[in-house]
Amino acid sequence: MTELSLPFKFRYLPVKKFLDMYQKSLEEPEEFWAEEARKLDWFRTWDKVLEWKPPFARWFLGGRLNASHICVDRHVKTWRRSKVAIYWEGESGDSRALSYSTLYREVNRYASVLRNCGVGDGDKVALYLPMIPELLIFMLACARIGAIHTVIFSGFSAQALADRVNDIQAKLLITADGGFRRGKVVPLKNIADEAVTKCPSVEKVIVVKRTNSPVTVKTPKESWLDDLLKDAALFVEPELVESNHPLYILYTSGTTGKPKGIVHSTGGYLVHNCSAYKWVFNLREESIYWCTADIGWVTGHSQIVYAPLAHGAATVIYEGAPDYPTIERWWDIIEKYGVTVFYTSPTAIRMFMGYGEEMVKKHDLSSLELLGSVGEPINPEAWLWFYRNVGGERCPIVDTWWQTETGGIMISPCPGIECLPLKRGSATLPLPGVEVDVVGEDGKPAPMEQRGFLVIKRPWPGMLLGIHGDPERYRETYWSHFPGVYYAGDYAVKDKDGYFWVLGRADEVLKVAGHRIGTAELEDAVVSHPQIVEAAVVGKADPVKGESIVVFARLKEGIESSPDLKKGLAAHIRKEVGPIAVPDEVYFVTKLPKTRSGKVMRRVLKAVANNTSIGDLTTLEDASSVEEIIKAYQELKEGEVKKK
Ligand code: PRX
Repeated sequence: MTELSLPFKFRYLPVKKFLDMYQKSLEEPEEFWAEEARKLDWFRTWDKVLEWKPPFARWFLGGRLNASHICVDRHVKTWRRSKVAIYWEGESGDSRALSYSTLYREVNRYASVLRNCGVGDGDKVALYLPMIPELLIFMLACARIGAIHTVIFSGFSAQALADRVNDIQAKLLITADGGFRRGKVVPLKNIADEAVTKCPSVEKVIVVKRTNSPVTVKTPKESWLDDLLKDAALFVEPELVESNHPLYILYTSGTTGKPKGIVHSTGGYLVHNCSAYKWVFNLREESIYWCTADIGWVTGHSQIVYAPLAHGAATVIYEGAPDYPTIERWWDIIEKYGVTVFYTSPTAIRMFMGYGEEMVKKHDLSSLELLGSVGEPINPEAWLWFYRNVGGERCPIVDTWWQTETGGIMISPCPGIECLPLKRGSATLPLPGVEVDVVGEDGKPAPMEQRGFLVIKRPWPGMLLGIHGDPERYRETYWSHFPGVYYAGDYAVKDKDGYFWVLGRADEVLKVAGHRIGTAELEDAVVSHPQIVEAAVVGKADPVKGESIVVFARLKEGIESSPDLKKGLAAHIRKEVGPIAVPDEVYFVTKLPKTRSGKVMRRVLKAVANNTSIGDLTTLEDASSVEEIIKAYQELKEGEVKKK
């Protein structure tokens, strides 16, 4: 494993404080988490810290709280009412600063709008919005009245939006006239219009004005937010929900075609996130924190909305693309706001590496104190580049491992407790209260330095409540691989110091530029193309995005492969899922390699796509198809080279 010798200030060996706290957290977990929970505002204390009926955990049972109260009300009772909560930077250079008192007022008014639209405790609200403050305000407004929000990433297509809205039976859909992306307008309202025709549960649509695009708002079902705000009250009493009342449902990809609606609680989720945020980001009152994720993913939910606001932090939110209008945009933003904590993804770092360090060095990044990485394994070169060029060799990097399902950070250095010696490429040790391990195929601990499967050995407060509407799938996906432990779906290695190195997904899930995309979901989209009968999707190692998408598709009898058909397929996938799912390479084949039982052997396709060895083929039903795939692949590759 690669070790980096760091300046002495990051090597507080033997990290006694951290290890003592960790030890205590595992010996007395309920007391430990109860102490953390007491730092939040509860309107009624819980009767029981944890009810663990495997695989279902319920935390702080009987406790009552409200997430919007924790994120805004409690701050406006203090000097923080005049503190900036959100520095919002628009893609075109417009900006807004919202104080906690402004945020409080807006959350209340939006909550009143929701109520006036007939939304109440337990109702589902779908949010299909760009990265604008209104998105965050609506999330908190839902939480205020006990409604459950589902944010749908604004890059998803009408079909993907409709699937998610129908799965939760959302009563209300909130969208915008459009969103800006690289100077162009994404026509969100038009996409939403198409989706809503397939969503009978949606009773009302609210439209936020962002781009001033000419859209039609058809009353009475549809309304502009601005019109509804005219009748809004300035205060809405927060609904005091039980700790296990769902705060939100967020869809993520799994190994089957249907995305999973991950349900998160209110109490356990907030306790976990508040504690983890403090431990990992070492936030001080005067910190300026910027997480570059999109609110449409879990990182945005936990690390832009709930954890920072619960702490009364000042958060930067940027609306647009990292390299728009120039590749210096991010460094301008750090300089402009004096960002102290900067949390981003390995893909972004690798993209900037490609532009060279000069454009970073032109900027004064001396305000930075801490850097963070999330979403995919960070390779040692990217780590070092980030550390040297962005962090000026001053800032520790917190490599944070977690998932949509875990709700909060699980493995990471914790400079807020005591900074561990860092190793580039390792997320280091689990957080207090979190017990993880690496096991082999037999479920027994894997030998040191040997690859195995990452598992979580005890419940944690941010843990998902389940998969919406499908307890069996929840049990099957996470709890059936190894008895009694949570299966994370990642390969990992534990080194001689007990440090964890997460290596990537062990299942049929891709990580493309940090986005989690299920191959089965993509295959469903490919085969819904009228000229394709069968398809297999695999990941190919990509130096910037981590993985890229490669499609092998079998055409219907009599259909000829052509460049237009390829383009048509890309457009079809964009329409079915969205731009993040558009394949990088498409190969039309006449056969797919299959096992004797008829299962497509992705291993073979993956090896072909990645140009690595194919391994044992004895279970292949018809080995000639492998030859054919290699041949098709090579011919196509050569063809492409010639074309250039
Ligand atoms: O494969 C791991 C990878 O991202 C997966 C979770 O994806 P998602 O639910 O979209 O959440 C991403 C942001 C929390 C994991 O199973 N992953 C996440 N963080 C890391 C990582 N892989 C390696 N190192 C990380 N720090």
